[in-house]
Amino acid sequence: MSTQQQEPESQESPQDPEMKGTESPQQRRLKEKEEGMVDEHAEEEAEAAGETVHIKVFRYDPEVADKQEPRFDDFHVPFEKGMTVLDAVMYARDEFDSSLTFRHSCRQAVCGSDAFFVNGSQMLGCKTQLSELEQPVRIEPLPHQEVVKDLVVDMDHFYDQMHAVEPYFQDEDTPAASDLEEQRQSPENREKIKMSSRCIWCGACMSSCNIAAGDNEYLGPAAINKAYKFAMDDRESEEIKEHRLRILEQEHGVWRCQTQFSCTEVCPKDIPLTEHIQELKREAVKKNLKFW
Ligand code: SF4
Ligand code: FES
Repeated sequence: MSTQQQEPESQESPQDPEMKGTESPQQRRLKEKEEGMVDEHAEEEAEAAGETVHIKVFRYDPEVADKQEPRFDDFHVPFEKGMTVLDAVMYARDEFDSSLTFRHSCRQAVCGSDAFFVNGSQMLGCKTQLSELEQPVRIEPLPHQEVVKDLVVDMDHFYDQMHAVEPYFQDEDTPAASDLEEQRQSPENREKIKMSSRCIWCGACMSSCNIAAGDNEYLGPAAINKAYKFAMDDRESEEIKEHRLRILEQEHGVWRCQTQFSCTEVCPKDIPLTEHIQELKREAVKKNLKFW
């Protein structure tokens, strides 16, 4: 049997002219380049015509002699309508310096891998239009995280905090498999936790939080929001909810939050993080849990 499968006719092909309107400028340029349609002097002409964006990108690599001292590199990227910060750094990498390192994947604000510090604020590169930013556009790795290389930070501590709140459903009396029933959630309860379930683990909120910057053990807004999603879900028992609140009301839990709203301001998914943290504090008080 052949292992090759024919592509369904409806599958989107990069060669499909119908798709032209949905391509990003960077994707279109790469395709035109492959097809030999790019004029060698187009970049110089664009720059001469002033149709470029000036980006300053943080550079650091502990393994390369001339990059061990952190610095900013300047790139002048030909501008096209609709270009994002991610498009610009991809262009800089593809056309000017292949060693420029950063994370990205979905390019649709879904994977959370390209959170950068742009002009002094945490944001997703793929969601941020260059046309909305002052030039030169300064692009740095997320603050308060160890830089691995260029725009790449070490996310291990962030993931540890996310896992510390036990982000999975729990039931102390799990019935036998044969007795399991579908666990339904009311539309009202779904509505209540809807926003908290939108987190894409980008780390922007944690990076923006002054408290997290000064207290490495603080669970941080993303992990507390993750705990909120489960603690407020009616499908878990009251006992499990109390267990969750006990994790959250520890010395480095919800009481560390000083309601500065920086996390809420930068969250690319508009999750009301500060509100969720405050609600969990109220729940802890109602249950007579300890104040720190
Ligand atoms: S809560 Fe928002 S800012 Fe924080 S990790 Fe999730 S999506 Fe990113
Ligand atoms: S590339 Fe996936 S969120 Fe930006």
